[in-house]
Amino acid sequence: MTAMLPPGSTIGILGGGQLGRMSALAAAALGYRCHIYAPEDNSPGMQVAAARTVAPYTDAAALARFAAAVDVVTFEFENVPAATLDALAPLVPCRPGVAALRIGQDRIAEKRFFEQAGIPVGPWRAVHSLEDLQAGIAELGLPAVLKTTRMGYDGRGQAVLRRPEEAAEAFERLAPHPLILEAFIPFAKEVSAIAARGVDGTVVTFDAVENRHAHHILDLTFAPALVAESVAHQARAHVAALATALELVGVLALEMFLLPDGTLLANEMAPRPHNSGHWTMDACRHGQFELHMRAVAGLPLPEPGRHADSVMKNLVGPESFAAWPRLAAAPDVALHLYGKAEARPGRKLGHATRLLPCGTLANTSEPDLLAPL
Ligand SMILES: Nc1ncnc2c1ncn2[C@@H]1O[C@H](COP(=O)(O)OP(=O)(O)OP(=O)(O)O)[C@@H](O)[C@H]1O
Ligand SMILES: [Mg+2]
Repeated sequence: MTAMLPPGSTIGILGGGQLGRMSALAAAALGYRCHIYAPEDNSPGMQVAAARTVAPYTDAAALARFAAAVDVVTFEFENVPAATLDALAPLVPCRPGVAALRIGQDRIAEKRFFEQAGIPVGPWRAVHSLEDLQAGIAELGLPAVLKTTRMGYDGRGQAVLRRPEEAAEAFERLAPHPLILEAFIPFAKEVSAIAARGVDGTVVTFDAVENRHAHHILDLTFAPALVAESVAHQARAHVAALATALELVGVLALEMFLLPDGTLLANEMAPRPHNSGHWTMDACRHGQFELHMRAVAGLPLPEPGRHADSVMKNLVGPESFAAWPRLAAAPDVALHLYGKAEARPGRKLGHATRLLPCGTLANTSEPDLLAPL
């Protein structure tokens, strides 16, 4: 039996964004305090946390003080330098550990890890040089997607190559190298699934969901995904297998492509709560942020207990955010706003989840589902 952190303990969170904010709110409901460490002051997470450190991720003295002030550390931002967790790990338990962070930061390591864990992926090649890229295009064909291996998010650091002449320019533009070339996957749907794994190795999973993107940013999540039962089961099995292979403690999301023949190919993972899991806050008895905080604190992990169908809409940029008064008035819509100081275009400023009785998603037209959102 692993020690459960007693109420009143402090959970340290690296990163001050909305994922840290919603984690801190879930932790507070369980009686914990959160201490947010981030380079930017007044971040969404800090606004709801009991304590804050505003310092660079590379500040050794600030990290040591942070470690001394908290009982356990997690991260909500996957581009926290691995060296930051390396510095903290000897001082305080880090959940998940640096191995999951490192793999999730590098698309090549991630692809290899999927393959080792027996999770199918699409064809890919590491690209260290223009010659590698040309050879890769010859092997994988076009169209193909060239991506940075590090620091990409919301579709940044990617180029879809449609003609051989586009290769050189994209290779020069995308940095840092190496890059990764992926065959373009003609998916029928994009699906993701989330697992939570506890200190004792227990794994629970949420229902698989369908994701739609707009301008390379997640726009909508339909939960549950309307896919064959075998596909939904496979998606959950894949993410559970990965969480176990990583020996992860916390929450893990896996984004997948569903092919027309029912095959699932892993695209990328995130060893943290995920935007495609925001619906769980309102449509499950135990949402992803609660399960993440439970795992980090060594608490038991209950089954999520989904009690509603749902559609989650991201509020991205000022125009989308402007709908908040209407969303606040809509029945059966849960509104979450992140307290971001600046409503810049392309920024995730909040989300709204429409809740429906279980089973209605499959029997309702999409325009009707989306009407209140
Ligand atoms: N190989 C591919 N074939 C077809 N579409 C792709 C491929 N890779 C990426 N895409 C499309 O681009 C989107 C973003 O890609 P990916 O998830 O790899 O990048 P990201 O920048 O990390 O995005 P995010 O942070 O939003 O998850 C995918 O969800 C998918 O719609
Ligand atoms: Mg993605």
